[in-house]
Amino acid sequence: MNAVIENILTRRSIRSFSDKKISREDLELIAKAGQYAPSAMNQQTFQITVVTNEDIIKRLYTAIPKYMEGLNASAYNFYGSKHLMLISDKADKEIGQMDCACVAENIFLAAHSVGVGSVWVNQLRNTSDGEEVRAALNDAGVPADHKVWVIAALGYASAPVGDKEKIAKIHFCE
Ligand SMILES: Cc1cc2nc3c(=O)[nH]c(=O)nc-3n(C[C@H](O)[C@H](O)[C@H](O)COP(=O)(O)O)c2cc1C
Repeated sequence: MNAVIENILTRRSIRSFSDKKISREDLELIAKAGQYAPSAMNQQTFQITVVTNEDIIKRLYTAIPKYMEGLNASAYNFYGSKHLMLISDKADKEIGQMDCACVAENIFLAAHSVGVGSVWVNQLRNTSDGEEVRAALNDAGVPADHKVWVIAALGYASAPVGDKEKIAKIHFCE
């Protein structure tokens, strides 16, 4: 099996991160992989905001539950991640959601290829405009007219990961 396919087949979502920091070099490499994702009509309007500022991360995980019913605020901390990549695009651009999903997968795979774990955290897509959330996003440098479609939470896994639990079907019609 070639290395690219093996990387795809062995990536898993990580939901428990250690305190070990990812190097700036690896963060740049992972973000660059996101930058090179396909983009509808090559509009390239998305932005990847790399957040390692602990105060901003805390402001985000503290604010988000205020705008989302049912989230357990006391347990909500992006699984302890110290590195977030906020993947955003213009809020009025419907296809931006799809562009951002492509960016996210590139980020997850690039991270895995250098031994960094990751998980998609979904809650900003519905809360980006909550007042306290937006203030933190502004301070992080996310453009004011952007919605954050994906938080890619990154870090080193603090526990072993299991096998894939479920797998979707492939159907050949020949
Ligand atoms: C659109 C989307 C939204 C997701 N949202 C979350 C989330 O908010 N929190 C989370 O822990 N995982 C989230 N995930 C990760 C999935 O739960 C995970 O990919 C799935 O369980 C399969 O596991 P795997 O990534 O290890 O293959 C999301 C994944 C996708 C594609």
